[in-house]
Amino acid sequence: MARITASVYTSHVPAIGAALDLGKTAEPYWQPLFQGYEYSKAWLQDNQPDVIFLVYNDHATAFSLDLIPTFAIGTAAAYQPADEGWGPRPVPTVIGHPELASHIAHSVIQDDFDLTIVNKMDVDHGLTVPLSLMCGQPQAWPCPVIPFAVNVVQYPVPSGRRCFNLGRAIRKAVESYDQDLKVQIWGTGGMSHQLQGPRAGLINREWDNRFLDRLISEPEALSQVSHIDYVREAGSEGIELVMWLIARGAMSDSAPLVKHRFYHVPASNTAVGHLILENT
Ligand code: DHB
Ligand code: FE
Repeated sequence: MARITASVYTSHVPAIGAALDLGKTAEPYWQPLFQGYEYSKAWLQDNQPDVIFLVYNDHATAFSLDLIPTFAIGTAAAYQPADEGWGPRPVPTVIGHPELASHIAHSVIQDDFDLTIVNKMDVDHGLTVPLSLMCGQPQAWPCPVIPFAVNVVQYPVPSGRRCFNLGRAIRKAVESYDQDLKVQIWGTGGMSHQLQGPRAGLINREWDNRFLDRLISEPEALSQVSHIDYVREAGSEGIELVMWLIARGAMSDSAPLVKHRFYHVPASNTAVGHLILENT
């Protein structure tokens, strides 16, 4: 039986990828940010999963206003880093896990969640920056990755409640896979940030930290927060945080072990939050 061993939560700012790729991690602006992931890189080395199920959002790279899937699961054998305007990031190709992804798609769709199945796509900073933060700059990513894209860009977006329940369905799907695999689920994006309009630059430390507290201790109650509250409190792009609830919903019902917690402002326009939770 496959099982979910742990979940990882992290922001995904594109400038973090650029700082790594251009060798700027030791600069005073970036050093405290990367310092917060030193523990995480060691933890991942010591807790290597067989597969990472990576919940992220596409930023008009693979999808556009032409096609807006609410939830999309990658069933491909491989995914190339996208060209987001400055050429593709110099990071490894992402190797998929078509067998487990197909099994999860089957189980979750039969469990009443509509997923779009994606056999070909490129992956942008939403997926590659979390991998870089957790893995550094390896020649190859440490294991296969199943990309799971959530629409948090174009309204209407899915509710936190639906995301949390989808996480539960993903847990059930993983646990009904007949191979002995250790699966980590990563919830990415967030925390507070707004990139546009009169409130551009908005950061809400207090709200973010309360979100981290509640994600750990009362995720189901947290999942009831409405989308308008995310936008009001955490900015228009703060809505990316609903993706963290998918990962949290996939964890077992008993209290998780908090292995690491980190919060840092600023990284570009974003408040960076990071958690590692293990199933006990
Ligand atoms: C920034 C943050 C994001 O989540 C994103 O997708 C793009 C840019 C930023 O803070 O610059
Ligand atoms: Fe984003």
